Amino acid sequence: MISQNDVMRKNLKMVHGYPMVYAFAHNWERIERFRSRPDDIVIATYPKSGTTWISEILDMVLNGGDVEKCKRAVITAKVAMLEMAVPGIRMSGLEQLEKNPSPRIVKTHLPIDLLPKTFWENNCKMIYLARNAKDVAVSYYHFALMNNLQPFPGTWEEYLEKFMAGNVSYGSWFNHVKSWWNKKEEHPILFLYYEDMKENPKEEIKKVARFLEKDLNDEILDRIIHHTSFEAMKDNPLLNYTHLPNAVLDHSKSPFMRKGIIGDWKNYFTVAQNEKFDALYKKEMSGTTLRFCTEI
Ligand code: PPS
Repeated sequence: MISQNDVMRKNLKMVHGYPMVYAFAHNWERIERFRSRPDDIVIATYPKSGTTWISEILDMVLNGGDVEKCKRAVITAKVAMLEMAVPGIRMSGLEQLEKNPSPRIVKTHLPIDLLPKTFWENNCKMIYLARNAKDVAVSYYHFALMNNLQPFPGTWEEYLEKFMAGNVSYGSWFNHVKSWWNKKEEHPILFLYYEDMKENPKEEIKKVARFLEKDLNDEILDRIIHHTSFEAMKDNPLLNYTHLPNAVLDHSKSPFMRKGIIGDWKNYFTVAQNEKFDALYKKEMSGTTLRFCTEI
C-alpha cells in the first residue's frame, strides 16, 4: 500500500516514454481503462498554461453565467483531473469523474499519445489552451517549489535546463503544443491562447460559448469576465487551490495564483538564457504555423 509520504518529492517516472508525476504514474492501466461519455468536454493543457482559468470559464459558460451554481464545489471536484491520484489524500480524478453528472468537464495535461483513445472514439469536444513557453517555464518553476508532488526544482538555472530538455512532468512543452495543434485538423478541438484571453477575454469567451453552442448575452459575458479575472480567482477559496492540504501544496513557498501576467519571464531569464532558449525555440518550432506572443 503506497502512502502519502512515499510519493512526495519523488523523481518523475516514465510512462510510455513521457516523464510523469510519480504519484500519478502508479497503475497507469487505470487511465487506459477509462471510458469517456460522448458529451464529456476535455480541457487539455501543458501545465501552468491557465488550466484553472479556462476551467472556471467553461463551468460559467455551461451554467449560463450563474455564479451561485458555480459555487457548488471546489474547482478540483467540478473539473476533475483525469490522471490525478494522490494516495491517502483524497478522491482520485477517476473516482471524481465517475461521480460527476454529465456533461463532465475533464481536465488533463496529457500529451496526445497518452490521452485514452476513448475520447477520440467518442468524438468528445476538446479545448486546448496554450501559453508561451517562457512564462510557462517560470510558472512551472514556482509550482515545483510549492508542489510537493513534483521533484525539487533546484535553482532557476537548473530548472530551466530541465525544462528545455523536456525533463519535467508531461515532457517537452514543444512536443505538447505542436502535437495538439496538429491534431485539431482531424478532431473538434478549440485551440486558444492564454495571451489572447488576457488581452481580449470577451472574444475568447465568445469562442468557447460558440464551440459549446451556448448563446450568452453581453451582461452574462461581462459577469464571466469579472468572476474569472485573476484578482477574483486569487481571492476565491473554491478556485485558488488553498483547499488542498498544505502537505501537498505549500502556498508559503509560492502561491498557486501567483501573478497571472504575460511577460514575467523577463524578470527571470538572463540575456544568455534568453539567447539559448530562442535558439532552441527556433529549431523546435520551425515548420509549424503555431505563433505565440511573449509580451504585450
Ligand atoms: S495547473 O497546475 O497546471 O493546472 O496550473 P494552471 O491553472 O494551468 O496555471 C496556473 C497559472 O495560471 C495563472 N492564472 C491566471 N492567469 C490569468 N487570469 C486568471 N484568472 C488566472 N488564474 C490562474 C496562475 O496565476 C498561474 O500563472 P503564474 O504565471 O504562475 O501566475
